[in-house]
Amino acid sequence: MITQEMSARPVTPWDILVEKLALLSEQAESIADLDASFLETLSESLALAQGMNPYIGSITTEESVDLQNLVERTQTEDWQKRFQEGDTTLGLEKEMVSGHIEGQFLKMLVHATQAKAILEIGLFTGYSALAMAEALPADGEIVACEIDPYAADFARRCFEATAHNSKIAIEVGPAKDSLLTLAGQGRQFELIFIDADKAGYIAYLDFVISNGLLAKSGLIVIDNTLMQGEPYTRKDIGANGEAIDKFNQFVAADRRVEQVVLPIRDGITLIRIL
Ligand SMILES: C[S@@+](CC[C@H](N)C(=O)[O-])C[C@H]1O[C@@H](n2cnc3c(N)ncnc32)[C@H](O)[C@@H]1O
Repeated sequence: MITQEMSARPVTPWDILVEKLALLSEQAESIADLDASFLETLSESLALAQGMNPYIGSITTEESVDLQNLVERTQTEDWQKRFQEGDTTLGLEKEMVSGHIEGQFLKMLVHATQAKAILEIGLFTGYSALAMAEALPADGEIVACEIDPYAADFARRCFEATAHNSKIAIEVGPAKDSLLTLAGQGRQFELIFIDADKAGYIAYLDFVISNGLLAKSGLIVIDNTLMQGEPYTRKDIGANGEAIDKFNQFVAADRRVEQVVLPIRDGITLIRIL
């Protein structure tokens, strides 16, 4: 089986740190007369960093076979080719899958909030949606918004092979349109997971708060709020890093909410309305 750890390029601050420490260690080996204690500290630093995520993965509840299959299907898809052939219009890539630890974290949040209605903005191939659906009761529902029809179909095919298919409704189109429709229908969600275009985050958060989409005592979960470390290192900061930095400052200054940022994967912010 292909695992994310085996094949994905590093897309989280921690995995980038591990890659850089490994590079430093390699470079240090070719430098003559380096102090032994320097080399030992470097090697200990690498071991500390490199071992953490595999260790967390090994002691976190295992992901279901359905989720493993979904990851494998996502990893073996040629996303570059899909883009070149015009099946997808966005630069979708296998690294977008949230994966085992984040998926299990989301499942825990579903149980902790006892959510029965969940909104996801940003479905991709459906890992986080299926993980949360697995934690929902039989009469629970997750509405997942996805702009890319190819990704939406891909996810739908993965869900059809599971016992949780009937709990997942996919809204294809720009999330802002889906949000308007859902608000017009008077829908409310106890858990809202935002994981789509980073430039849209402020508008999504503002919309779900201002239009009553979040149920009283509901929880909003935002993905990628550490964006590969770019918001705080400012090194080679790209459009997504800038957008996330703006979003983080917006949340930090928003007196309507209380929030905490967790360094899980690429950073997850939990937000509740005061
Ligand atoms: C990071 S991926 C989501 C990963 C997914 N939550 C998971 O755990 O595997 C982001 C997704 O958001 C979608 N997206 C981007 N812009 C969007 C928009 N304006 N409306 C809806 N979906 C959008 C992309 O097509 C992509 O599939």
